[in-house]
Amino acid sequence: MRVGIIGLGLMGEYYVRIVTDLVGPENVLGVEADRDRAEMMAAAHGITVTQTWQEIVGTTDAAIIALPDHLHTEPAVAFLQAGSYVLVEKPLATSLADCQTILEAQTEPGRLMVGHVLRFDHRIQELKRRLDAQEFGNLRYLRIHRSNSTMGAKRVGERVSVSAFLGVHDLDLLLWLTQREIRSVSATGKKIFGSHWDLSIASLELEDGTLALVENHWLLHPDAQRSALAGIEVFGDTGMALLDLSTQELEIVTDDNPRTKRIDTHNWTFDAAVSGGNLRREVEAFIAAARTGGPTPISGEDGMRAVEAVQLVEDALARSTN
Ligand SMILES: NC(=O)c1ccc[n+]([C@@H]2O[C@H](COP(=O)([O-])OP(=O)(O)OC[C@H]3O[C@@H](n4cnc5c(N)ncnc54)[C@H](O)[C@@H]3O)[C@@H](O)[C@H]2O)c1
Repeated sequence: MRVGIIGLGLMGEYYVRIVTDLVGPENVLGVEADRDRAEMMAAAHGITVTQTWQEIVGTTDAAIIALPDHLHTEPAVAFLQAGSYVLVEKPLATSLADCQTILEAQTEPGRLMVGHVLRFDHRIQELKRRLDAQEFGNLRYLRIHRSNSTMGAKRVGERVSVSAFLGVHDLDLLLWLTQREIRSVSATGKKIFGSHWDLSIASLELEDGTLALVENHWLLHPDAQRSALAGIEVFGDTGMALLDLSTQELEIVTDDNPRTKRIDTHNWTFDAAVSGGNLRREVEAFIAAARTGGPTPISGEDGMRAVEAVQLVEDALARSTN
């Protein structure tokens, strides 16, 4: 099993840690355009790293695309057409046309997966089981929110809106948890740091009349005691569920280091060698599909639906007066 990892930035390094642990460093082919980073990653993880993905198309059984959003389409298409399984980081692509192009590049259905990592959170999986069992009666209202620190805006705010970067997680969860289509969206928001939306408050109506509020921003102070504020609230006729997703970090403050250190214990935790948590479960599911030839657990169609939902929110923001 040879696995390519395209783009060795923040997410790419997490993937390298997990995949080298699963298949051995000798079977991992990294691709990183930045020469210094490429050399550093090769030395740190004992993997081969090239600077262009074109060099390794046709040589992988599975490929993970962890490039900036606007660069997903071309490599995803090339690796799929070469018969590889492909895991694309969220969002699948930046336009519906590009999503469609990627879907159509699959030589067989089920070879594409989209990295909606929160679907591997055990708490959210339990909530979904209970929603599927209709434990809360008729659904009336869901509130899903996710906010990061201003450091997130500083890091990627020039290239994406907060709706595309963070909101895509929540919109995917809304669609996946409820299994309903979106009927209409209205939204209000602000562009604070640049030309993209940095604050988005979207009010959605689902096909059966269920209402939802999806709120995203990256306005948390960088010294806040948590790096994310997030949660899901579900209200139905006969029950409700409250899920606080903010409290997933180990908070460390010592005399030597009086500033709060936050250690992720949930999404992509890592000890000295290996990343774990939700991301590891996501990668294990992807590699298992590639090994057995079965379908991946998060389809390209699901990824495309999430991108469509982001576009509905961004269109509603553009219609708003802010
Ligand atoms: N699942 C999550 O929660 C989560 C979190 C953060 C980012 N993401 C997604 O992961 C993807 C990557 O984001 P990131 O934060 O790791 O970005 P990043 O900027 O940290 O990393 C991207 C890397 O790709 C490299 N690169 C750029 N163009 C290249 C090319 N043509 N060929 C090879 N390498 C190239 C860059 O040099 C950089 O090292 C994005 O789609 C983003 O939305 C997902």
